[in-house]
Amino acid sequence: EKGGYDYFMLKEIAEQPKAVADTLLGRIDANGSLTLDEVRIPAAVLREVDKVVVVACGTAYHAGMIAKLAIEHWTRIPCETELASEFRYRDPILDQRTLVIAISQSGETMDTLMALRHAREQGAKVLAVCNTNGSTIPRESDAVLYTHAGPEVAVASTKAFLTQLVACYLVALYLGQVRGTKWGDEVDVVVRELSDIAAAVDTVLETMEPVRELARSLAHKNTVLFLGRHVGYPVALEGALKLKELAYMHAEGFAAGELKHGPIALIEQDLPVVVVVPSPRGRSVLHGKIVSNIQEIRARGARTIVIAEEGDEAVVPYADHLIRIPATPTLLQPLVATVPLQVFACELATARGNEVDQPRNLAKSVTVE
Ligand code: M6R
Repeated sequence: EKGGYDYFMLKEIAEQPKAVADTLLGRIDANGSLTLDEVRIPAAVLREVDKVVVVACGTAYHAGMIAKLAIEHWTRIPCETELASEFRYRDPILDQRTLVIAISQSGETMDTLMALRHAREQGAKVLAVCNTNGSTIPRESDAVLYTHAGPEVAVASTKAFLTQLVACYLVALYLGQVRGTKWGDEVDVVVRELSDIAAAVDTVLETMEPVRELARSLAHKNTVLFLGRHVGYPVALEGALKLKELAYMHAEGFAAGELKHGPIALIEQDLPVVVVVPSPRGRSVLHGKIVSNIQEIRARGARTIVIAEEGDEAVVPYADHLIRIPATPTLLQPLVATVPLQVFACELATARGNEVDQPRNLAKSVTVE
């Protein structure tokens, strides 16, 4: 049932190109417009939405952080992303014009369920982004967009994450399309770029041997830090979460701009620091800033592990290890940048003799609050 792989996690990592392609399937018409009729929230209601709130936990929360950037950029609707476990306890401001997006692989996460129940009680519309047909979260929502990742067995979420991103991009673009924003008119362009991503993920998967080797060489370490900015920040958090749950290592993700406000004090000789570098073409200002961050931490002894797009030469002098990813549009980069971090954590767990599919103290779906 593991399809020749040692672990479900490895199988699920390998299935990602197909999972991404399947999540797009049937949702794009011949003109490159989106047809999300399955989201049975009438266009008239979506046009009235004046605020979007994304609620989720763990890896799904990281997808939600990226969704916020895509939604605000493509629709100009204010969007906030919040940990589902915190949401209802702060008396959030919600009404009929609020769209709440609840992201959950299992559809059974109690924190997320309680958050969406609270949102509906306040009159908000709830759209579930879910991987499990007929589970509780979509059943209790106004609408659902299913991710077509197929069953995810390993406790550590991989292919579900990538498909959650795809689904959130689709929701963001659909909102833009329905509301006629600038980006709404260019949906076909972004959709074409999204359609190319499955092949890009495949390319990443084919070049992972050096990442596995690197992971094995770090098996004796106690701490790994992760840095990113913009969409790279949630990717850094996701890389750290994977390492915590699989390798039982102390791992932290930081927004690279925060380094100077504290975390840089952690840098010491030989400390591995993974840096997710934004595209030099997209937000070039951020690119320059991250390159300076890499220089700064390296000057203080960090061992830099740099994830940068193909052709980005500026990072080369400061990278002790360079992991290349294909060039993608800025907002879509997490779909390729996360994959090496999954492989890295999986290999480190194996090297440390940990149980990859069933990490200690964790369950696949967390049905208690
Ligand atoms: O089933 P859900 O997507 O609601 O689960 C949310 C989190 O419990 C889940 O993503 C968890 O963080 C994973 N084990 C991370 O790999």
